[in-house]
Amino acid sequence: MPTLNAVTDLTLEDGIAVLTIDAPPVNALSAGVRAGLLAGIRQAVEDDAVQAIVLICAGKTFIAGADITEFGKPPQPPSLPEVQSAIEDSPKPVIAVIHGTALGGGLEVALVCHYRVAARSAACGLPEVNLGLLPGAGGTQRLPRLVGVERALELVTTGMHVPAPAAAEMGLVDLVVDDASLRQEAIAFARQVVAERRPLRRVRDLDDRVAAARGKPELFAQFRRANAKRFRGFLAPEYNIRCIEAAVELPFDEGLRREREMFVELLKGEQSAAQRHYFFASREVWRLPDIGAETPLLPVAAIGIVGAGTMGGGIAMNFLNAGYPVTIVETSQQALDRGLATIRRNYENTAKKGRISATDIERRMALLTPALQMEALSQADLVIEAVFENMDVKKEVFARLDRIAKPGAILATNTSALDVNEIASATSRPESVIGLHFFSPANVMKLLEVVRAEKTSRPVIRTAMELARKIGKIAALVGVCPGFVGNRMLAQRQREAHRLVLEGALPWDVDRVLVEFGFPMGPFAMSDLAGLDLGWRRETSTGSTLREILCEMDRRGQKTGAGYYDYDEARNARPSPVVEQLIREFAARQGRTSRTVSDQEILERCLYPMINEGAKILEEGKAIRASDIDVIWVNGYGWPVYRGGPMFHADTVGLDKVVQTLRGYQETLGADFEPARSLEELAAAGGSFSKPAQRQ
Ligand code: 3HC
Ligand code: NAI
Repeated sequence: MPTLNAVTDLTLEDGIAVLTIDAPPVNALSAGVRAGLLAGIRQAVEDDAVQAIVLICAGKTFIAGADITEFGKPPQPPSLPEVQSAIEDSPKPVIAVIHGTALGGGLEVALVCHYRVAARSAACGLPEVNLGLLPGAGGTQRLPRLVGVERALELVTTGMHVPAPAAAEMGLVDLVVDDASLRQEAIAFARQVVAERRPLRRVRDLDDRVAAARGKPELFAQFRRANAKRFRGFLAPEYNIRCIEAAVELPFDEGLRREREMFVELLKGEQSAAQRHYFFASREVWRLPDIGAETPLLPVAAIGIVGAGTMGGGIAMNFLNAGYPVTIVETSQQALDRGLATIRRNYENTAKKGRISATDIERRMALLTPALQMEALSQADLVIEAVFENMDVKKEVFARLDRIAKPGAILATNTSALDVNEIASATSRPESVIGLHFFSPANVMKLLEVVRAEKTSRPVIRTAMELARKIGKIAALVGVCPGFVGNRMLAQRQREAHRLVLEGALPWDVDRVLVEFGFPMGPFAMSDLAGLDLGWRRETSTGSTLREILCEMDRRGQKTGAGYYDYDEARNARPSPVVEQLIREFAARQGRTSRTVSDQEILERCLYPMINEGAKILEEGKAIRASDIDVIWVNGYGWPVYRGGPMFHADTVGLDKVVQTLRGYQETLGADFEPARSLEELAAAGGSFSKPAQRQ
């Protein structure tokens, strides 16, 4: 039998046709793959020598889904449903052979096969929801027929990858075999199906499991209620649920039509565009234009951390979790004990939730060596400094590290705002110094800003990025500037949030507008959570800002039961009449008259200066690309992923409109709103920030 096309191949092995897809990197269902599949099935069906067909993939994975790069382009024949019908209607059994991951359209192809055999290490899932979509090739109709409605709801709304053994348990795959013998065993299974004359099992014809949920709307209502918080703001989860409802209530073909309509609606919408943008952005962020695979990686086996406070402890946990030995240094036994106790308590809380075992805790704690002398770091390959945010203290620490650390060791600072070049200048080896800006809580937050200083060497940067990946972070390479990328943009939002309050909006108005936009929390609720007294001292307090006045009143945030909001015992926030009064008086003392501020103004004034700052950051080369800024905001600051990130959002609004609006505010509020030159130029040229993230 001939090769079908460049990405598919058909061979005959003693009565069994082996249809192989070989379309790197992930065997996505491109037009070529669809055409090859259709031709292969047709040939195999027509060939009298063929008794059964095995569908298998070369490379690292089974089909990972539709080809996302084709979305939004004119459709190319054959369509996926056409290919699926050819498989499902084949008079000869078709067996899907799964290794790696069968995802999205890939699993939907497997679901039209009559049987599924999986390697033990394989996983299956319908992750479309994470792209703002739903499985658009029958997944929502077939999955509940195999695994039942409750499981199907969970799978389609989380997009989770189900490991093969669990998939077998729930009926999603028929046989799990060892990875090494997958191909042989799949062919043997095909022979067995033929020999036993097993029926062609078409999932679409199964009814028992969906019938069990028929006429039980409360099942869906309950699921919606239980997950309301997780789904807030997102369209796709609700659409996925409606499709499962359709699977229960409608005949198969009608359900399929309903699914297709809803898929197309989501595909055309802004949320899916944003989530697809984010998918590519979160992969692009790892690509460094001037640092490729030829740059050597430095060996990193042992980690040192200076400072066991809030950040040092959290940073240590990342490395302990990944199996690295960590030595942590403090200035006093008391601080060291406190730091270690916090780490242990965090692990114990995770264990209480069932996410790790008691043995895991001990294994991780055993990797941790506490020390009171910096000399204990002499063998570390990477030292991360997390001491007080004070330049003199940091320079002293780095000067000592310079004397102690072994040659070639990476010396990193976790500073959130200080000049990494200046810190590096305290050493004789600035090429080894880098910023690793973790976010709080460092053991939870995904984002890591890797800060490249003027003299940081390429191997140090590449090694830091690779390490970030190993400890499960999403790293973005940024340049040295005040606040780096994330906090520099945040400062814009903070300034406006506070200014708006002095003009007449109340803190809860600002928070509500941003929460409605999709942030988990507004800036004032956030301040209350973090504590208003961060960096505040009574002795030096001048009572010249609202925050200082609140601290002086002992309204220091949630921990004191009051801040911008009042809190009850359960820490529920209520707008505070005291604060409202205080704001009015404070504004009046400054000669301001209160006015009504619209929600639209709140949103524009909080977000557009951030976008403008993002443009300046790009002009200065402090971020590599606009989509990196989006990745930073989604992972570090709770920017809703269904709005893509600030720079993608600017594209969605229209850069013209952003510039015009900034100009409007510039007239009344001054230079803070002056549009960045590059933003104006991009808008004038009809361009957008997001194009570079979407590979064509
Ligand atoms: N289409 C096109 N390209 C894809 C792709 C897809 N579905 N999935 C992955 N890729 C590309 C990535 O962009 C990346 O390209 P690059 O090397 O040029 O950057 C390359 O494949 C490798 O991807 P990863 O870096 O993510 O590799 P990993 O090994 O870490 O992960 C994976 C592999 C688990 C398959 C992961 O890529 C993934 O989760 N992919 C998306 C799966 C998905 O969402 N499928 C559903 C698609 S929508 C659909 O099927 C609609 C249908 O219902 C009609
Ligand atoms: P922290 O005050 O909780 O911890 C600092 C610790 O460093 C203290 O335990 C202190 O005893 C110890 N220390 C001070 N000098 C030392 C020395 N010479 N040797 C060893 N230990 C020493 O402070 P936090 O919040 O952990 O901040 C640390 C750094 O992380 C700062 O640079 C801060 O800007 C940065 N950062 C903080 C974030 C936060 O949200 N807290 C977020 C991101 C960065």
